[in-house]
Amino acid sequence: MSKVPPKQEGDPNTTGHTWDGIEEFDNPMPRWWLWTFYVTIIWGIGYTIAYPAWPLVSSATAGLLGYSTRGEVAAEIAAVEEANAGINAQLASAELTEISANPELNGYAVSAGAAVFRTWCAQCHGSGAAGFVGYPNLLDDDWLWGGDIESIHTTIAHGIRNEEDDDARYSEMPAFGEILEPEEISQVVNYVLELSGGQADAALAGPGAEVFADNCSACHGENGMGDREQGAPNLTDAIWLYGGDAQALTETVTYSRYGVMPPWTQRLSEAEIRAVALYVHQLGGGE
Ligand code: HEC
Ligand code: HEC
Repeated sequence: MSKVPPKQEGDPNTTGHTWDGIEEFDNPMPRWWLWTFYVTIIWGIGYTIAYPAWPLVSSATAGLLGYSTRGEVAAEIAAVEEANAGINAQLASAELTEISANPELNGYAVSAGAAVFRTWCAQCHGSGAAGFVGYPNLLDDDWLWGGDIESIHTTIAHGIRNEEDDDARYSEMPAFGEILEPEEISQVVNYVLELSGGQADAALAGPGAEVFADNCSACHGENGMGDREQGAPNLTDAIWLYGGDAQALTETVTYSRYGVMPPWTQRLSEAEIRAVALYVHQLGGGE
């Protein structure tokens, strides 16, 4: 046992525990500290009653105030929509071809359109709208279906070769693997290579011109310049949707491609469709 010096007047209270002569004081916690501690407990309980807190099997307690972060976002979206309701109504009802002459409306449409594009279009056409194989570049002035504002608007509203919209743009290049002999395919592929300024075998391209006139010119035009009524690409400009080397061309001609774009009328409002059409139109290739 250790020696504890006898207690004197004015010494603090101890708990009676001693270790090698060291005693444990029995000082109470300061009042302010205790009260703060109690208040935090009460506040914590109140908080879990007022706000969503306790996990349940498949959800959580909702809290008496009915607060949710989703609700807050919805309220913010509603507030923005209300603030823009006037200009959106103006955008949806204005004459499509005259919007670009109204700087205020056009400026609003292009920035709203850029946001729509990032959300709904970038995954196919690329965030900079430069496209990918099978997804056209929207920056250039090479258009499958037309580059004036009304054509772009129709393309976006109804989409291309989809089954959801009866007004979708439609055309279908046949799979020539079932129509032409491999020899003829190789001839016409060389003719297309020649048309576009690529490396072609002249001995094949010669007869290829005839195969082209018989099988392809109805859609791609006599000179291979394409036809926007049918979304048939210009084959002379060396801008390729699916690739312009002999292998890619042979695949295109043998199997055909059938590019599909969804319609947007069910998913976006008329103002949003117009906004993104104006955005695409001003990207550089608009007519
Ligand atoms: C699921 C993929 C996909 C999405 C999403 C998509 N597109 Fe397309 N888009 C395509 C394809 C594929 C084509 C080309 C179809 C063809 O071969 O004619 C196309 C063609 C176009 C064209 C016609 C280009 C031309 O040369 O005539 C425009 C304009 C266009 N898209 C705009 C948009 C806009 C704006 C959005 C967003 C609202 C969008 N696209 C979303 C796949 C998509
Ligand atoms: C019924 C109309 C039609 C006929 C006939 C047709 N095409 Fe096409 N062709 C199209 C359309 C539409 C496309 C657009 C691609 C798609 O379907 O997504 C296309 C695309 C192409 C492409 C791809 C161009 C690119 O930018 O990648 C090539 C190459 C092509 N056609 C060559 C031919 C050749 C060669 C023939 C004749 C043997 C032919 N086409 C006949 C309608 C036609």
